[in-house]
Amino acid sequence: MKILGIESSCDETAAAVVSEAGVHADVVSTQIATHQPYGGVVPELASRDHMRQISRVVSETMTQAQCDWSDIDAVVATQGPGLIGALVVGLQAAKTIAMARGIPFVGVNHLRGHMLAARIPGEANAIPAYPYIALLASGGHTGIYQVDAHDRITCLGQTRDDAAGEAFDKVAKVLGLGYPGGPIIDRLAQTPGDEVTFPQSLRQRRSYEFSFSGIKTAVAQYVANAMKAHGDAPLPDEELLAVVRGFQRAVVETLVRKTVLAAREKQIPRVVLAGGVAANSALRAHAQEACDDRDLQLFMPPRHRCTDNAAMIAWAGLLSFRDGMRTPLSASPRASWPL
Ligand code: KG4
Ligand code: ZN
Repeated sequence: MKILGIESSCDETAAAVVSEAGVHADVVSTQIATHQPYGGVVPELASRDHMRQISRVVSETMTQAQCDWSDIDAVVATQGPGLIGALVVGLQAAKTIAMARGIPFVGVNHLRGHMLAARIPGEANAIPAYPYIALLASGGHTGIYQVDAHDRITCLGQTRDDAAGEAFDKVAKVLGLGYPGGPIIDRLAQTPGDEVTFPQSLRQRRSYEFSFSGIKTAVAQYVANAMKAHGDAPLPDEELLAVVRGFQRAVVETLVRKTVLAAREKQIPRVVLAGGVAANSALRAHAQEACDDRDLQLFMPPRHRCTDNAAMIAWAGLLSFRDGMRTPLSASPRASWPL
């Protein structure tokens, strides 16, 4: 069974072909250069870029997969959550292919795609058995989920305000580091040195809720005060790095503490990291240590499978399609679609 999947929910135009054996082709076209001058994703520009890239990305995927249209059993696409104008492009492309080829279409929830990525065959040393606790930390969402089966996912708690990735991006913007902030902060924080201590919201609460808007404000305030102290000059490099390291530590420690808490309280000894922030080196290292200490098994997809890609959408779509799910061609994109 071969499935073509399309992803266009934010700033990546992506397509992939997967089967039960794993990923046959995987193409991601990023829009970083388009949004870089604005320090964040501009929805209108994202839609236009998806329009420009989608045909090329799908064609390249089919060539890479070395398969013919007649080999494709179904086409699936991210239906939400995401930017409406961006979703429309991938969704309509998928529906058009389904109609032209006379094959079924399945709309996929992007969050579900992220959380099932760790189970794609052939990509990691080990595949987590159900049930598992998933930390989903991306640019649009941050929460802890209990995954009992591919179609039985329960949210245990999520952020009350900003997503973790959003905090990385906003802090990088405040510090003038560029976009997207996550990978830049990740790299800078690897340099050894001092750290500024920032407060960790909801730290003591035995809940699985997060809040990241406070730390964003704390960093902005710190920078404003430090600049004043330096006669309105920008922060010296070493102080800037201390802010970056301290910010990342606060976010990473919070994410790991609550994920481990969930695994222990639910008595589920398997933990999965998912979403763009799961590509973060410090998060991966800290989660590994915390899980080793508590006899929890940690599963981390490769980094390129944490950030947005279509293989995870195609895989989630394959599982639904195999169970008989079909989505009508009249289906609309969904800006928000809680699990
Ligand atoms: O999952 P994703 O690609 O898109 C959404 O579904 O939102 O996540 C993107 C987010 C961005 O906020 C980006 O800054 C963050 O993931 N990110 C990282 C890293 N790589 C991407 N955050 C921290 N460290 C990274 N290495
Ligand atoms: Zn995503």
